[in-house]
Amino acid sequence: MKGIVLAGGRGTRLYPLTKSVGKQLLPVYDKPMIYYPLSILMLAGIREILIVSSARDLPAFQGLLGDGRQWGLRLQFAEQPQPRGLADAFLAGRDFIAGEPVCVVLGDSIFYGEGLQAILRSAAALTEGALIFAYPVRNPARYGVVQLDSAGKVLTIEEKPDRPRSRYAVTGLYFYDSQAAGIAAGLKPSARGELEITDLNLAYLARGRLKAEVLGRGIAWLDAGTQEDLLNAAKFIQTIQERQGLMISCPEEIAYRMRFIGREDLRRLTAAMARNPYSDYLLKLLEETSP
Ligand code: TTP
Repeated sequence: MKGIVLAGGRGTRLYPLTKSVGKQLLPVYDKPMIYYPLSILMLAGIREILIVSSARDLPAFQGLLGDGRQWGLRLQFAEQPQPRGLADAFLAGRDFIAGEPVCVVLGDSIFYGEGLQAILRSAAALTEGALIFAYPVRNPARYGVVQLDSAGKVLTIEEKPDRPRSRYAVTGLYFYDSQAAGIAAGLKPSARGELEITDLNLAYLARGRLKAEVLGRGIAWLDAGTQEDLLNAAKFIQTIQERQGLMISCPEEIAYRMRFIGREDLRRLTAAMARNPYSDYLLKLLEETSP
């Protein structure tokens, strides 16, 4: 399975923070935002990853992430010429996907919690249909809202409905079989002029090929799209990290624990960093996992 991080968009809700820099380059506490969704793909075991963004921000992402080799990844970059919606961004990756199953994650989505890795690994084994995740939120009207029956079957999905039929938002993490880009290419823009990922999911639903898994309250799903969300996400990361002494979404650590890179690689990466809490954390990781 391949992975795509959608890291374009307008970021209008975060203006003026996003006037000269893309949202997913902004910090969430101690890391650039894109580290969090990228870590999700890594935890799913996905190593071939495309970053989709605007012409303005792609060089910054390339500067930040390089070709991914340092973390045992193969990163590619593609431009979305205009922010015409999530399904459109996904179309920018058509050549990259090349008829394989793909996991798409929104560049401003943060997931954390017990059992997440097992959920991700089994989702990444998908070869047919599509899989989305439903998550209870206080304000579902801001999101795609999914209604499930008692057996967990998807009944409806509505994009930002005035009257949500459930409390379950569709999270920013989607798994698709090899048909997705073909189906997305046939979508028409919505009333707000965007190619909606909800319409892609509805196309899978119409074919009887859409599954939704509920993420329980033991998992945190945060997005960082507004000033309040961004600050809350930073506070959440800070609180958990300070309490546990464990980092959330540290790509170096994940690459090492997933064996995408070895001890020597991690040692070299750490040695190249200035001494700061981040590199101290990686040094401690090396000590604690000494062979
Ligand atoms: P949104 O948060 O829905 O949109 P946005 O980033 O443009 O922000 P705003 O609503 O404040 O203007 O996007 C979710 C994620 O998807 C985010 O990481 C940006 C990304 N995205 C794209 O890559 N391409 C797009 O065309 C759109 C709309 C979003």
